[in-house]
Amino acid sequence: MRIGVLTGGGDCPGLNAVIRAVVRKGVGVYDHEFVGFRDGWRGPLEGDTMPLDIQAVRGILPRGGTILGSSRTNPIKIEGGVEKIKDNLAQTGVDALIAIGGEDTLGVATQLFERGVKVVGVPKTIDNDLNATDYTFGFDTAVNIAVEAIDRLHTTAESHHRALICEVMGRHAGWIALHAGMAAGANVILIPEKPFDIDRVCAYVESRFKTRYAPIIVVAEGAHPVEGQMALQAGELDAFGHVRLGGIGETLAKEIEKRTGKEARTTVLGHIQRGGTPTAFDRVLATRFGLQAIDAVHDGEFGVMVALQGTDIVRVPLQEGTKELKTVPPGRYEEAEVFFG
Ligand code: F6P
Repeated sequence: MRIGVLTGGGDCPGLNAVIRAVVRKGVGVYDHEFVGFRDGWRGPLEGDTMPLDIQAVRGILPRGGTILGSSRTNPIKIEGGVEKIKDNLAQTGVDALIAIGGEDTLGVATQLFERGVKVVGVPKTIDNDLNATDYTFGFDTAVNIAVEAIDRLHTTAESHHRALICEVMGRHAGWIALHAGMAAGANVILIPEKPFDIDRVCAYVESRFKTRYAPIIVVAEGAHPVEGQMALQAGELDAFGHVRLGGIGETLAKEIEKRTGKEARTTVLGHIQRGGTPTAFDRVLATRFGLQAIDAVHDGEFGVMVALQGTDIVRVPLQEGTKELKTVPPGRYEEAEVFFG
């Protein structure tokens, strides 16, 4: 078989580990051939390919990013996009596709499968918000980067008696904030799933200063106050209609300063959380996903996504992964709340 591989959406550490596993097992065990499509769905849409053989995947296991490039191109929004993809797959002699991506990329994969394209999905995102899989690779790396940053913020916050706010990514899910905040001993963690009460946040800040420690507030980029408490800015939309988030940390710092009289500063970790080498956990998860994805293609089982359930890698219908966002359940947030203030 000749199999196309693409990586779409926001990149994350571990993408190269998936590509390597797919190609190593696909060539070495099954004798398949591969072609890389550049920059997510833009590749098959425009017929932009690159060679993808054993040589191309040598040494990429620890490398962040993706050797295939990525984009947020949405072919469904482009007139005749699906037909162009089907024509280009036929022209390049591609029998099946492995699409490595998050909610948006796998959403497109689902629609293409419904229109006759043989596709297997591999879930990735630092946000960990995909349904049907316990974890996505990239998440563990992002959390560890955030934990290291927050550990560093603790010492400088205490020297200067400041409230330090750390804004992390995660879009509409608070997983990165929850895990990083718990692991690094944040005084307050604010997540999109639970609108925060600014009076309560300020009370936590003040009580922390009373104990002679400086407060660290971990805020997810998608967190927001309860209705009517603070004015927020609206962001732009991307090709999938998602709002570009960011800025809540700065707004929060101003509000805390105004209400408590204490100096408050914000660090926005941004894309640092997505860059660089994956953790061992993410390398192993990504590798196991890649192995299972090529097995699914070899078995002729399409329209599925590989997923981690417990410690097993399983196959689930593609639409399972994207039918709803996996957000932080209230019970998980309550566990973290024990340590607030
Ligand atoms: O989905 C991954 C993610 O990093 C989100 O956490 C964040 O909101 C978004 O992508 C940022 O997108 P971009 O890389 O396009 O700025």
